[in-house]
Amino acid sequence: MSATRTLELRQPDDFHLHLRDGDMLRAVASISAAHFGRAVIMPNLVPPITDCAGVEAYRDRIMAALPLGSSFEPLMTLYLTEATQPAEVERAAVAGLIRAVKLYPAGATTNSASGVRDMEKIFPVLERMQQLALPLLVHGEVTRRDVDIFDREQVFLEQVLEPLRQRFPALPIVLEHVTTRQGVAYVRSADSGLAATVTAHHLIINRNAMLVGGIRPDYYCLPVAKRETHRQALLEAATSGDRRFFLGTDSAPHAREAKLCECGCAGIFTALNAMACITQLFDDAGALDRLEGFVSLHGADFYGLPPNRKFIRLQRESTPQLFPSVVPAGTDTVRVFDPGMDVFWQVVATMDIAG
Ligand code: DOR
Ligand code: ZN
Repeated sequence: MSATRTLELRQPDDFHLHLRDGDMLRAVASISAAHFGRAVIMPNLVPPITDCAGVEAYRDRIMAALPLGSSFEPLMTLYLTEATQPAEVERAAVAGLIRAVKLYPAGATTNSASGVRDMEKIFPVLERMQQLALPLLVHGEVTRRDVDIFDREQVFLEQVLEPLRQRFPALPIVLEHVTTRQGVAYVRSADSGLAATVTAHHLIINRNAMLVGGIRPDYYCLPVAKRETHRQALLEAATSGDRRFFLGTDSAPHAREAKLCECGCAGIFTALNAMACITQLFDDAGALDRLEGFVSLHGADFYGLPPNRKFIRLQRESTPQLFPSVVPAGTDTVRVFDPGMDVFWQVVATMDIAG
């Protein structure tokens, strides 16, 4: 067993987060705010956040759910529908209400029914976003029934993303929660304006976690975890120091009953232990010197934000951590991600200055 070690980093940001609403929001907001300085907030509520008024009201509910004195900053997004007007997006961007717009192909994932079926319908919005240099965040999966669920990201790259980038070459795009080596290679092939978020869970599990020895709904998310070679490609990208890859946890809490039923929801709740798990991964990969880039610097840089002013301290304990298995949310509970590996690191402090 190695001795206790500590590590100080700029406070990290979460560039892809589901905070939900109501009791769930009140249960999970403080958990993200305990580690992260800012987070890009997903707009896939029911109904989705599609206009300025919706963004403002949701932002207020998030702020109200944070602990007193918290400096956590939600970076809001709009949910793109085929009816979204360029003027509304511009208004939201110019007013500083949003940092990005989220594209869900209709039917791709949780609460994506109002998403986009016909890409041409959103061309005027994308044109305006390109002028504003406002990032488009894509859920990169096609939804055609004839495309195997394990191939949906790769087909999206070829059939949707590449044509889109050719048509809007100056539009900043984030391939959210990349899960395949083809996705990694595609992001690497772009000179500028394209980046990818990587989740903690896709860096840790492959599809065996979900399917071997019984079906484990707690490891079901979208895009679904792929085979081991893909996980390795993601880990290599995340730990490589390449500025085009940064953390977006996609922490996606669902009530226990919504996961454990005939048609369970996709989503893994990782906000509580994502930082500990990722630090362990980088330690195991001999890449702790690249951790700060991945969790605290690359994403901010892509979004044109300054690094957080605060710092966090992580400590490597001599025995593995025990995470709570569930957190309460109103009358429900939410399962906390079980990484299935020893995690010795934990976040022990947030500080205004280093040291
Ligand atoms: O696993 C997922 N859960 N993937 C998504 O794209 C959506 C998210 C959710 O909202 O639950
Ligand atoms: Zn998501």
